[in-house]
Amino acid sequence: MPESPNAGWNDFRRVGALYDAYSIFYAIAVNAASLHRGYYVGPEDSTKFSEAADRLTRHVATYLDLSPGDHLLDIGCGTGQPDILIAQETGCRVTGLNVGSGQIAMARMLTEAAGLTDRLTFELSDGLSYPFLDGTFDAVLFFESIAHIPDKEAAIREAVRCLKPGGTLTVVENFEIPHAGTAQWRSFLEETMRWYPSTVDDTAKMFRSTGLALERVVDLTEQTEDAYRRALEEASARQDEVVRFLGAETGAGMLDGLKTLVETLAGKIEFAVLTGRKEG
Ligand SMILES: C[S@@+](CC[C@H](N)C(=O)[O-])C[C@H]1O[C@@H](n2cnc3c(N)ncnc32)[C@H](O)[C@@H]1O
Repeated sequence: MPESPNAGWNDFRRVGALYDAYSIFYAIAVNAASLHRGYYVGPEDSTKFSEAADRLTRHVATYLDLSPGDHLLDIGCGTGQPDILIAQETGCRVTGLNVGSGQIAMARMLTEAAGLTDRLTFELSDGLSYPFLDGTFDAVLFFESIAHIPDKEAAIREAVRCLKPGGTLTVVENFEIPHAGTAQWRSFLEETMRWYPSTVDDTAKMFRSTGLALERVVDLTEQTEDAYRRALEEASARQDEVVRFLGAETGAGMLDGLKTLVETLAGKIEFAVLTGRKEG
């Protein structure tokens, strides 16, 4: 087999396949197309997970500083559901990149159903290098995706290269609470989810070292920390459907995986939005 031009590509394809499977599970178990947390206004908020997830996207859209016609690059775009909502909210165009071909297919189908094919395109590509010219985009977004990229600084540098001067880069992510995790905890996340958590401070340093002026850090931990537990509750209530569509072994495995994720992240993760602006 020829050597991959990108040493990390095979590993990226594995995380892509993992999320391709999750996207099907989420559709069945919680009726959601987005693969990120949900935004809740408090413990009494009984909003369904899928709506809370879309609410988080709309909230994130308010930070992106996009006007009609602007061009957003979304790295690790999932099924494209966040891009559809962001395009509807702001009037922007979006190019979405992902390492999962199943998610790319889903993104193209959802875009067609939403009547947005003139503004949204999706390509199979990893978040470390892509063939866009310098200064192509008005904004770049990593929405719960950069945690899966081991060399985050390289990913941010490549994103900054493609940003117009004055454009914004936004990272919405689960960050490790400083000193909360152990080496064993990190290895477990890496082995099971290809997840390499960083802290808010380390990420802010990477913004500065890649030529971004840090403009905003918003802590959304309180609004989002219960999201995966709620998703698990909804998914467990739909266990029969999960097993009917995915089979007993895969269905039970996916439900167990979600339970493990909830337990593994509890008390160790904060959730935040960081925005930086390209200087020059
Ligand atoms: C937690 S999901 C979030 C998906 C989407 N941004 C959303 O908010 O619904 C993580 C996404 O990152 C993608 N991903 C992981 N590693 C990547 C990489 N190296 N390059 C591009 N996408 C990647 C996965 O395939 C998946 O779609």
